[in-house]
Amino acid sequence: SKRISIAIDGPAAAGKSTVAKILAERLSYLYIDTGAMYRALTYRALQEGIDLDDEKALIALLKDTYIELKPSERGQLVFVNGEDVTNIIRNEKVTNSVSIVAKHPLVRQEMVARQRALAQHGGVVMDGRDIGTHVLPHAEVKIFLKASVEERAQRRHAENIARGFESDLETLKEEIARRDKIDSERKVAPLKKAEDAVEIDTTSLSVDDVVNRIMEIVDERT
Ligand code: C5P
Repeated sequence: SKRISIAIDGPAAAGKSTVAKILAERLSYLYIDTGAMYRALTYRALQEGIDLDDEKALIALLKDTYIELKPSERGQLVFVNGEDVTNIIRNEKVTNSVSIVAKHPLVRQEMVARQRALAQHGGVVMDGRDIGTHVLPHAEVKIFLKASVEERAQRRHAENIARGFESDLETLKEEIARRDKIDSERKVAPLKKAEDAVEIDTTSLSVDDVVNRIMEIVDERT
């Protein structure tokens, strides 16, 4: 059957990557985590002590930053100039800084070019904020996942505790709400449901429910 492009967008911690990984696995498609790319650049900027408002410095850094997304048995691995940054790009500092880095138009322009190159042959599941609206406007399947802030914070909290990380529910709620606000209010390619995207509210759905619902849509279009 036809190898299509599947765009999955939505706010922070809505379950996009969990669902996208399972879909990619089932379809033998490539999973592309675009948030990891913005996180990778943010990680390097923090490491280099670059001012996150300095677009020129960030774009120069990005030109010098080779980001690889590698599938592995334990999920996707992220490498920056050969260094495995899979875990470190999820830390609090990067998480709370990434939306500032992702606001810059020239940073986005370069990221979008890289993302389109990765998707050029189809057979991809790409997740992010602007995939259906900007990166892959012709994607055959567009999904917009949402859930209440309360629910998203609860899920992330449970995840943190299961991994043995310190976690505070109220702080998580604030951080998620703050990131969504910056991502939805930025001038370039803000977080927004594409007009032709199917919206799925995952608040009272299991991961399997969400995956099955999307698979039905995929089956109709392949
Ligand atoms: O998906 P994740 O939470 O890892 O994304 C981290 C951040 O990267 C988002 O909060 C957003 O600021 C930025 N991002 C973006 N556009 C994308 C993906 C992520 O601006 N397509």
